Parts: sequence; C-alpha cells; structure tokens
Amino acid sequence: MARGKLIVFEGLDRSGKSTQCERLVSYLSGRGVPVKHRRFPDRTTPIGQMINNYLQGQSEQEDHVIHLLFSANRWEAVASIEADIKAGTTVIIDRYYYSGCVYSAAKNNPSLDLAWCRHPEEGLPRPDLCLFLDISAEDAASRGGWGEERYEKKELQNRVRQLFADIRATDDGSDFVTIDAGQSLEDVEYAIRHHTETCISKIDDTSPLRRIQ
Ligand code: TMP
Ligand code: MG
Repeated sequence: MARGKLIVFEGLDRSGKSTQCERLVSYLSGRGVPVKHRRFPDRTTPIGQMINNYLQGQSEQEDHVIHLLFSANRWEAVASIEADIKAGTTVIIDRYYYSGCVYSAAKNNPSLDLAWCRHPEEGLPRPDLCLFLDISAEDAASRGGWGEERYEKKELQNRVRQLFADIRATDDGSDFVTIDAGQSLEDVEYAIRHHTETCISKIDDTSPLRRIQ
C-alpha cells in the first residue's frame, strides 16, 4: 500500500495557515485521499495545556523550557503520525519544527540560537512538503484577531519572518515552497493544491519517510 505523505504549513501568525489547512484537507478527502489534520502546538495534551497557558500569558516559562515543551509536544505525537503515514493516511500539519526553531530563536536570547533550537527536533519525521505562507508582519497585523497571544508583536514577527528566510536558504530546498499569502484566498488555495499534487505524484511510494537530520 502507498504510504501517506507528511505535509506541513508554516508562516507567521495570521498568515492564513489554519484556513488553508482546512481547505486542503477537504479538497484531498473529496478526492478520496485518506487524510488527517493536526496542529502544533497540540493544546489538548498535558504538555499542550502548559504551552497554552504560557501563550495566553497565564504562566511564565524560562525560554529554554518553553522551547523544549514545544518540542516535546511534537515528540509525543510521533508514534501516531508514523502509524498514520504507514497506514496510507496523509497527515497535514498546521505548524511544525520550523516554527519551533524560529519563534524561540527570534527571542534574541544569546544561548538560544537557531542551531541550539534545532537540536531537540532532530530525529522527528521530515515533511515531504512544507508550504510556507509568506506575509509581512504589517499585513498579518492588519488581519482580524491579531495581538491576542504572546508572540503576536510586530518586532518579534519581523524577526520570525527573517529567520524563516534563513532556514529556507539553508534547507536543501527540495521540499520547501514559498507562497505569497497576500493573494486572494482562492489564489493561495490554488497554489497549495498545485504544489501538493506535485508532491504526491513525485514521491515514490516505496521511499520511507525521512527524518530530520
Ligand atoms: P498557533 O497560533 O498556530 O496556535 O501557534 C501558537 C504560537 O506558538 C505561535 O505564535 C507560534 C508559536 N510556536 C512556537 O513558538 N513554537 C512551536 O514549536 C510552535 C509549533 C508554535
Ligand atoms: Mg497564533
């Protein structure tokens, strides 16, 4: 049986990831592709609840500690993600380890640079495709609901966007696509479908899921 694919959405807060994730999930299920939708942080687990409290300003965490909690929140889902992929289900995830690296590194804590941030992520399943929805911090801030959570501040989001660009430049590039999220919802959706179809058709079903190295 063909294995499922691992497809990840990334971008700044309010870049439209959640909407587009849902649209892609219903598009693929409409085509008969078994698909599962996840998001990180997964706020439903005990670790996810600690993260949620921190993001909503109800608790404080030392920078390294919250970083490791975000990472642990991915590791606790690995067995389930791997089981789905093996069973032929495509897993679509709203945020993954790229967010894990760049949001922590954007804090400018001298002992929390991008390399340090990436280490706990090594060994996680590597996405077959990362769809990066690119938007400026200014445009994101003008969208509804912005500013409610801890990281929704313009200076931090500007650094996050720069760090996403740094990661894209150092990644081997093969599985990372950038989509202009300032376009209409439909144009963004169309671009996402196009890249997803290309990814699905080019992956050899016998090729195992890779790991982040
Ligand atoms: P959300 O807006 O997608 O629910 O994500 C909540 C915030 O958490 C968002 O500002 C990005 C941030 N974040 C991290 O700092 N590290 C992570 O590993 C993840 C997944 C998200
Ligand atoms: Mg958010």
